[in-house]
Amino acid sequence: MKFLFINGVNLNMTGVREKGVYGTQTLDEINLEIAAHFKGDSCEFFQSNIEGEICTQIQNAQCEGFDGIILNAGAFTHYSYAIRDAIASVSVPVVEVHMSNVHSREEFRHKSVLSEVCRGVICGFGKNSYILAAESFKL
Ligand code: DQA
Repeated sequence: MKFLFINGVNLNMTGVREKGVYGTQTLDEINLEIAAHFKGDSCEFFQSNIEGEICTQIQNAQCEGFDGIILNAGAFTHYSYAIRDAIASVSVPVVEVHMSNVHSREEFRHKSVLSEVCRGVICGFGKNSYILAAESFKL
């Protein structure tokens, strides 16, 4: 299968920021582990702090033949109608991911404007949230 892993705003700081919440590994280290887990599949990774760049990646995923998008939009999750509309614009299924259990954290993290247009949501399993989300496409 051909997977696109998209990480949004501040996820480039993984391993540096709030280590108690997001762990000590960098995003590159996590992505290497994901690629190793899915060694029989194609995995592409994209990270941006810019909302519009994430929308463009989602739009392009359709003609690039991706089977699924695994999306951790970071804080964009909670308010980006632009990313929501981009997801709704393509037929490529998207699974929303969070490393932390957003429901056990601050109130503003309980609301996602993306979930409604995603195939499903995985949260709370650290870096394994990405792997669980991508595995769901194989069921
Ligand atoms: C996050 C949770 C978001 O609320 C937060 O803004 C992030 C990371 C997670 O992976 O747990 O940046 O998406």
